[in-house]
Amino acid sequence: MLVTQYFLKDLFKGKTVFVTGGGSGINLGVAKNFAALGANIAICGRSQEKLNAAAADLRAFGTKVCAVSADVRDSAALEAAFEQSKAELGAMDVLVCGAAGNFLAPAEKLSANGFKTVIDIDLLGSFNATHKAFEQLKETRGTILYISAGMAYIPHAFQVHVGAAKAGIDMMMKNIALEWGRFGIRANSIVPGSIEETEGLKRLSDPAEKEKLVAAVPLLRTGTVDDIGQLAAFLSSPLASYITGCVVVCDGGQNLPGSALFNATAELVLRAQHG
Ligand code: COA
Ligand code: NAP
Repeated sequence: MLVTQYFLKDLFKGKTVFVTGGGSGINLGVAKNFAALGANIAICGRSQEKLNAAAADLRAFGTKVCAVSADVRDSAALEAAFEQSKAELGAMDVLVCGAAGNFLAPAEKLSANGFKTVIDIDLLGSFNATHKAFEQLKETRGTILYISAGMAYIPHAFQVHVGAAKAGIDMMMKNIALEWGRFGIRANSIVPGSIEETEGLKRLSDPAEKEKLVAAVPLLRTGTVDDIGQLAAFLSSPLASYITGCVVVCDGGQNLPGSALFNATAELVLRAQHG
């Protein structure tokens, strides 16, 4: 259910929202919720083909879209993407750092480069975007949202790389909120639970175990991309103008019993993937 049912339809009219990794999944869902509220949308990712398909979906909301290929590990490419989006859509009011990579890997089998790759995409990529967006966000007194994960604060099996990267993102978010508050820039993290029909859920879970997964969530359902999109819109809106430096969990309470079910399922998934 899109956010327009609850917010004014022109809440973000004339505003520009840049979503890294916005070509698919949760990040595209977030972009769609902003588009439904009148924002202009810029998205980046590595695959131009994926971005083009996402841009077509976003234009169906009547929004202006800038879809530009950039790897978040390449800060010069990000800078060029931000310049292009500013030229086409105006200075950025909201930056969503959503680009990420994930796979299951036992710590003892994960290579240093495997660990580094996820740190580079998630943590360094979020820093690159934050750093290169500063001037635009200062101009608009804008806001930053980081897409974190439960692995940041509860250990999950075979996720040592992701836990380290996402915990780093959440602490970086707090540092940015502390330093940039004086420029009127707010920063917050969103922690999604298990979100339906996403690459992340596909990589980390076993569809045969879905009933067990749902039964373990206190609200008895998995999340949707719109659950996250609605929260992103709220946190970027004037309703949240005094909220900064927060990690906001949107998971139906899934984290409350801990990660035991995830760990058991991940073991099965790993065995199915690698024997
Ligand atoms: N298990 C263990 N190690 C893995 C792995 C896996 N499933 N997948 C990749 N790696 C390792 C590689 O072996 C390599 O390390 P090495 O040089 O020591 O062999 C390192 O990670 C980099 O792999 P590469 O394929 O070159 O990385 P990439 O930059 O092309 O892709 C990934 C990044 C690996 C994160 C890829 O899965 C990706 O593109 N993911 C994006 C989508 C996604 O993950 N969505 C879910 C978000 S929650
Ligand atoms: P997804 O669709 O794979 O989203 C990741 C996006 O990041 C893709 O569009 C991908 O596009 C882009 N990307 C990857 N590497 C990149 C790079 N180096 N540079 C630029 N873009 C890059 O997966 P998702 O499951 O929706 O995940 C979205 C976010 O939610 C992630 O931050 C993830 O950690 C978080 N999350 C997901 C869940 C879940 O249940 N799915 C739960 C908690 C947190 P390209 O491949 O074209 O680059």
